[in-house]
Amino acid sequence: MSVRRLAAVQPESFAFTAENEAWIVQQIAKYPEGRQASAVVPLLWKAQEQAGGWLPEPAIRAVADRLSMESIRVLEIATFYTMFNLEPVGRHFVQLCGTTHCMMRGSEELKDVCRSKIGPERHVSADGALSWLEVECLGACANAPMAQINYDYYEDLTPDNFAKLLDDLRADRPVKTGSQVGRQGSSPELGLTSLTDPSLYTRGPSAGGATAEAPAAAGVRDPEE
Ligand code: FES
Repeated sequence: MSVRRLAAVQPESFAFTAENEAWIVQQIAKYPEGRQASAVVPLLWKAQEQAGGWLPEPAIRAVADRLSMESIRVLEIATFYTMFNLEPVGRHFVQLCGTTHCMMRGSEELKDVCRSKIGPERHVSADGALSWLEVECLGACANAPMAQINYDYYEDLTPDNFAKLLDDLRADRPVKTGSQVGRQGSSPELGLTSLTDPSLYTRGPSAGGATAEAPAAAGVRDPEE
């Protein structure tokens, strides 16, 4: 992981909106008196959301003030967790997994797509629409390669469908989350390879007159349940 530093260019100030202030009051109330610092991660998360996807230094100070913490303590937390972005990000922030499974399934080619469609890593495109970052495993290895864009996962990526996805996001066209090749969840990409006998899923007499074994008894989940 690279060294995480505050952005060189910072806004003058930061203040939570009235709506977020009301939300903060609720968060702080969850903790016993004297333990308000426990709300630091949710407040940082809210500050990042309000600031457009990244944490300016004045926002870190605002969180520290709100929780009566030393700002250096809040800075330590903000620089430790990689979910906090210390530099501006695009309207669509692409976190591209480059860990083993995704790498073996083509994430290197997807990085090339990012470079050609967006530009260098950790730089916002000129139109402000996109930025990208290589990240560690996001826990969707069965659908590798994949990327998280803002709050959604996009899986089974190829250079072609990923390039189109970025184009669509940039143009604010509707996009499909999840698998980009149409498979359901993590089911096999080429269809079922086991438990394919339809009789496993039927009740009643079998063709030979004997009663078919109920799915539960056969150790198979009844799809009608
Ligand atoms: S290796 Fe990419 S999601 Fe796990």
